[in-house]
Amino acid sequence: MTAYLLGIDVGTGGCKALLIDEQGNVVANVTTEYPLLTPKPLWSEQNPQDWYNETIKSICKAIEEAQIDPKQVAAIGLTGQMHGLVLLDKNNQVLRPAILWNDQRTAKQCDDIHKIVGLENVIRITGKPALTGFTAPKILWVRENEPEIFAQTARILLPKDYVRFRLSGEYFSDVADASGTSLFDVANRCWSYEIIDALNIKRSWLPVVTESPIASTKLSKEAARTTGIASGIPIVAGAGDQAAEAIGCGVIDDGEVSVTIGTSGVVFAATNNYRPDTQGKLHTYCHAIEGVWHAMGVMLSAGGSLRWYRDTLCKDEIARAASQNVDPYDLLIEEASHIPAGNEGLFFLPYLTGERTPHADPNARGAFIGLTLRHNKQHMTRALLEGVTFGLMDCLELVRALGTNITKVRVSGGGARSQLWRQIMADIFETEIATVNITQGAAYGAALLAGVGVGIFDNVRNVAHSLVKETSSAMPGPNASIYREYYQQYRLLYPALADQFNAIGSLPGC
Ligand code: XUL
Repeated sequence: MTAYLLGIDVGTGGCKALLIDEQGNVVANVTTEYPLLTPKPLWSEQNPQDWYNETIKSICKAIEEAQIDPKQVAAIGLTGQMHGLVLLDKNNQVLRPAILWNDQRTAKQCDDIHKIVGLENVIRITGKPALTGFTAPKILWVRENEPEIFAQTARILLPKDYVRFRLSGEYFSDVADASGTSLFDVANRCWSYEIIDALNIKRSWLPVVTESPIASTKLSKEAARTTGIASGIPIVAGAGDQAAEAIGCGVIDDGEVSVTIGTSGVVFAATNNYRPDTQGKLHTYCHAIEGVWHAMGVMLSAGGSLRWYRDTLCKDEIARAASQNVDPYDLLIEEASHIPAGNEGLFFLPYLTGERTPHADPNARGAFIGLTLRHNKQHMTRALLEGVTFGLMDCLELVRALGTNITKVRVSGGGARSQLWRQIMADIFETEIATVNITQGAAYGAALLAGVGVGIFDNVRNVAHSLVKETSSAMPGPNASIYREYYQQYRLLYPALADQFNAIGSLPGC
C-alpha cells in the first residue's frame, strides 16, 4: 500500500493541506481561508480556533481530492506563519486572539527587552534584535496591557504548534520556528534561559523544542476520528514557514539564496555556521536541517502591497479581468509591462504595514513618490513591482555584506509567477533568477520533513536536492544599468521621510 505524507501550512491567508506520495509527487493541494482581524491600526490578530477548524477541513478535502484511504497517510509535517503568540490557560483554553507576525503594537516592549537584556546580548544570543513582530515583546505587551489575561496564562505556543497541540494533545515546537521568538539561543539551538529568566517569563510555559525532522508527537485518537487518519501516526516537528519554504525550494547549503514573494517578501540565505549580523539588520535563525542556519531579511508588505493596490485602487481592472476571464494580477502586470523601467521617475515605498528589514520601523508608511500628470495606473503598477523589488534588493545587499557571493537566486511565492516581475528582479538584483518545479512552498517542505521523520526519505538535504529542479531562468538585461541609478535614489527616500512618518503617526486619528 502506497504511503502518503501530509504537509500542513497554517498561513496568514488560510490553511494549506498538501499530500505527496513516496516519490514526492503532489497528489492533492487544498487551501481553506480564515479572516484576519485588525481591531486597531497596526494590530493584526487571528482566532486560533479558526486555524484548527480550517486545518481539519483542508485535511479532509485533500484526502477526498487525492482519492486515497486516509489510513495511507503515514506522517504529518507542520509549518506555518511564524512569531505569533497563542496564550492558553491551565485548561488549555485560548485566552485571547493570537497576535500575529505583522502586528506592530510592541515598539515599547522591544526597547524594554533591549534595556533589560542588553541589545548586544539579544543579537548575540537570538541572532537579531527583538522586533515588533516577534513573540517575546508580545508576551510583555499582554503582561502590561491585559494583566487579567496574563494572570491566567499557563502555556504559550506558536501558531502551527497550537494546531499541533489540537492534533496531538502535546506542546512541542521546532528550532526554526522557536528562533523567531526572541527567547531562543540560536547558536546552541535551545531555549535561552538567560533571556527567559531576565524577562521573568515562566519556563514551564514554553513547549519542548526539537530539530525539524524529528517525529516529536503523534496524532491523537480524537483527531484521528475527525480526519479518518490512523491514530498514533507521527507528527513531525516541522518548521516555521520560511525555513520550510526554503526546503521546498532546495535552499539548503551555504551560498544558496531564495526570494519568496508572498504577503511578506523574504530574502533567505543558508549558512553552515552561526554568524549573526552584529548590526542586527539581517536576522539569523536555525534552518530546518541540523548544523545549518540561515540569514533572513523580511519585508512586511511585498505581495501584500500588490493585493492592497488591487483591492483598493483597481476595481475597474478587476471587473475587466472578470469579463476576460483572466486573473486581475495578470491583467495589471501585463498592462504595466508596456511602461519603461523606472516609470519616468515614479517610485513606490512598500511600507504599508511598517517595515522590518532593513528599516525596523513600525511607523514607516507606504507612498507613491514622483507623480506627474503623465503618470497613469500602468505606471503605478510598475512602480509598485519595482518598489517591492528595491526593498528586496536592500535585504540582498545585506546578505552580500555578510560575505555571501550571490550568483543566482531561486524565487518562489505568488510574485514569482510573473515573468515581468522575475525580469525586474534579475535586472535590479543583477543576478540570475531561477524558478523551480516545486510551487507549493512551505507545505511541500513540511511534507518532506515528515517523510524524513518516518524514514521514507533518507535525509532533508538529499531529498530536497533530488526533487527540487530549476525550471526557468531570467538573466539581467539592458534595464540593469537604469535600475542601478534608480536604486541609488530609492535608498535615499526612506531616510528622508522617516521623521515625517513618525510625525504623521502621532497626528490625531493615526
Ligand atoms: C518571517 C515572517 C513572515 C511570517 C509570514 O519572519 O514574519 O514571513 O512567517 O508567514
